[in-house]
Amino acid sequence: MIRTAAYAAHVLSGAFWTGAVLFVVYAVLPRAREGALSRESFADAAHRLLMVTRWTGVALPLTGAYLIWLLYRPLELLTGTSRGWAVLAMLSLWGVMNGLVELGVLRMRREIDPDVGWGTYMAEGFPTEALGGAGNAPEAARLATVARPYLLASAALAVLLLVDAALLAGGLPG
Ligand code: HEM
Repeated sequence: MIRTAAYAAHVLSGAFWTGAVLFVVYAVLPRAREGALSRESFADAAHRLLMVTRWTGVALPLTGAYLIWLLYRPLELLTGTSRGWAVLAMLSLWGVMNGLVELGVLRMRREIDPDVGWGTYMAEGFPTEALGGAGNAPEAARLATVARPYLLASAALAVLLLVDAALLAGGLPG
C-alpha cells in the first residue's frame, strides 16, 4: 500500500514536472521570444515553473529514496545492475535539470534586479511583483532570450529522464 502510494506520488510528480518544462519550452518560450506575451505573463509562467520544480524537487527525491530503500538493498544493487544504473541516471538527471531551471529563472530575475541575492531568490522566486511595474524593465523577449539556453537544456534532460523511466517501466533486466 505504501509502496503503491510512493510509486503514484513519484510518477505524478515526475510527469507534472517534465511535462511543465516541455510545455513551457514548446508553447510559452517561443511566443515570449516573438514578443507575443506580456512581460507579466511570461514572468508568471516562469515563476510557476520554478514552483513546480521546487515542490516536485521535494517529492521526487523523498519518494525516490524510499523506492531505493525498498528495491535496491544492499546498495551495491545500484552500481551492480542495469536497473540500478538507470536509477542513478534518474537521480543525476534530476539534479542537473533542477539546477538548470533554477539558474534560468534566476538569470531572468537578474535582468530586472541585478543585485538580487540567492537568499531572496530562494525565498521569493520570480513573482510578478518583482517587475515592480517598472516601465523600463526588459520586455518578455529579452527575458526569454536569457532563459532560453537553460530551458532548452532542461527540456533535453526531461526527454532523457522520460526515456530512462520508460526503460525501467519496460522491464530493463536487473
Ligand atoms: C531524486 C531523483 C530520483 C530518484 C532517487 C528516483 C528513483 C526512482 C526509483 C528507485 C524508482 C524505482 C525503479 C524500479 O522500479 O526499479 C523510480 C521509478 C520511476 N521514476 Fe524516479 N527517481 C528520481 C527522479 C525521477 C524523475 C525526475 C522522474 C521524471 C520523469 C522520475 C520518473 C520515474 C518513473 C516514471 C518511475 C517508474 C518506472 C517504473 O515503472 O518502474 N523519477 N525512480
